[in-house]
Amino acid sequence: MRAAVVIEFGTPPTCRDFPDPRPRTEDEVVVDVLAAGLHPRVRSQAGGTHYTGKGELPLVPGIDGVGRAPDGTLRYFVLPDTSLGSMAERTVIDTRRSVVLPADADPVTVAAGMNPAMSAWIALRRRIEFAAGQDVLVLGATGNAGRLAVQVAKHLGAGRVIAAGRDPEKLAEVEADDTRTFDELGKAADVDVVLDYVWGPPTTEALRTIVTERADRGRPLTWIEIGSIAGPTIELPSAALRAARLQLVGSGQGSVPTRDIVAELGGLISEIRSFRIDAHPVPLQDVDHAWRDTGTTQRVVVTP
Ligand SMILES: NC(=O)c1ccc[n+]([C@@H]2O[C@H](COP(=O)([O-])OP(=O)(O)OC[C@H]3O[C@@H](n4cnc5c(N)ncnc54)[C@H](OP(=O)(O)O)[C@@H]3O)[C@@H](O)[C@H]2O)c1
Repeated sequence: MRAAVVIEFGTPPTCRDFPDPRPRTEDEVVVDVLAAGLHPRVRSQAGGTHYTGKGELPLVPGIDGVGRAPDGTLRYFVLPDTSLGSMAERTVIDTRRSVVLPADADPVTVAAGMNPAMSAWIALRRRIEFAAGQDVLVLGATGNAGRLAVQVAKHLGAGRVIAAGRDPEKLAEVEADDTRTFDELGKAADVDVVLDYVWGPPTTEALRTIVTERADRGRPLTWIEIGSIAGPTIELPSAALRAARLQLVGSGQGSVPTRDIVAELGGLISEIRSFRIDAHPVPLQDVDHAWRDTGTTQRVVVTP
């Protein structure tokens, strides 16, 4: 079969021949892959830098996708940590980590949207006791995950949702109750929950501002670390944890058990049509060009 294959970490995959996959347990089936998203997590997998990586090469990247199972059902699936990912004509899925889609579901939209939408969905439903009416600030709201986080937070009953980012033009396109650039976060200090996709220096600054400028420092503030697109570390002054009622948690693979992630798939699938998802399909043979094109704001979806 044809697959996107990484031969060396840090070098984009190219489309080439790869051995056909075979199921190993009775819960596994081979699916014909229809769509697989090129998420930041897939880039770090293919770069050998993700914390779950095992260093195996060659590697077919892709952590999730939509495929046609042998029984004819259309399924969204998530893969375990494997060197046979979803960017291939066929892959092996564990049916217990998949959800049957309606027959008229659009594979490209589902493959583009599930990973970024799950980030906020899981964070708010599985990492904290999120209550309807709470105000949410999304840091990094112009990315695919951030744009969906704004919509997911609203959908789950948030009060005000404030979108924050570094680019005012892109922020203007985000449908939030309010938008703020990173240097205006003093005006967004009175929120209950922060969904943080950026980390690094912007978060160091944002934390300092929000903690010091809150009207009521005794009001609980739950900061959920979800992505680290601007850097892997922050500086956290001890005073930030004493001067405000700050709780810092993370949400991702590991801090949320796989069984909890899988348990949420069906619920999100049934709502996914209500979200705006920006997808850009690319044929499998062009995977290396798509990999190098980091300029698009749409989620690239490889279509074998
Ligand atoms: N833990 C989870 O469950 C989970 C799930 C999905 C995603 N994530 C993570 O969330 C992050 C965002 O994913 P995504 O799908 O939204 O990616 P994306 O579509 O590529 O968007 C990237 C976002 O990061 C911003 N950004 C990039 N570099 C920045 C910098 N130096 N300073 C400030 N902002 C910067 C971009 O701002 P501009 O628009 O201004 O360029 C944009 O808002 C990634 O780290 C990803 O791995 C985590």
